[in-house]
Amino acid sequence: MKKSLKLSLIAALALTVVACASTSTSLGTLRDTSVDAPDAAPADKVYAGKQPGKFALIERTFVGQPPLIPHTVENFDITPKENACLDCHIDSEFKGKKMPSLGKSHLVKGADANAAPQLNMLRWQCDSCHVPQVDAQPLVGNDFKTN
Ligand code: HEC
Ligand code: HEC
Repeated sequence: MKKSLKLSLIAALALTVVACASTSTSLGTLRDTSVDAPDAAPADKVYAGKQPGKFALIERTFVGQPPLIPHTVENFDITPKENACLDCHIDSEFKGKKMPSLGKSHLVKGADANAAPQLNMLRWQCDSCHVPQVDAQPLVGNDFKTN
């Protein structure tokens, strides 16, 4: 091997070592803690709302938004076979009390045209779109403007 080639190989190797060393020391973190320190779990928050029936509806911030849930959802199970939310929301009335009904967008007609419309099973999992609220400060700022 020619001497000049050897020298340039050595120089390239030295540069790589220096580059790696500087990368490893400059691997920083945006947090106050080291990157490998486990995150502390956030404190448990209780739902802002209690049993349904006493809460004002939460104003929607954009057209087509799934409305936020103003009441607690504790103990309301949601499975494809049993859905506690439907007890109240399938109709505009439950046990003589007025309810916000889930409306036509969530329903499909059954095989029997005279039967009451059924829940569209694409929407059985209510809490994939509708979320209950807790009293928490936003983790990051947000300058979203409603339309
Ligand atoms: C016992 C009856 C009842 C049950 C069960 C219930 N809700 Fe409600 N829901 C209400 C009532 C009444 C309101 C109106 C606000 C209030 O008074 O709490 C409401 C409001 C809402 C709203 C707001 C509607 C709007 O137009 O802003 C959503 C969304 C909602 N509920 C979703 C759910 C989901 C999802 C579940 C199941 C996890 C559920 N609810 C279970 C009675 C009920
Ligand atoms: C795929 C998302 C999605 C799922 C799943 C879903 N919803 Fe909704 N929901 C919406 C959106 C979006 C709206 C607002 C406009 C509309 O009616 O489409 C809405 C509206 C509502 C409303 C207010 C009706 C009105 O007239 O504005 C209620 C009550 C409601 N949903 C309850 C439920 C319940 C109970 C379930 C579960 C059985 C459920 N939703 C499942 C997206 C969803």
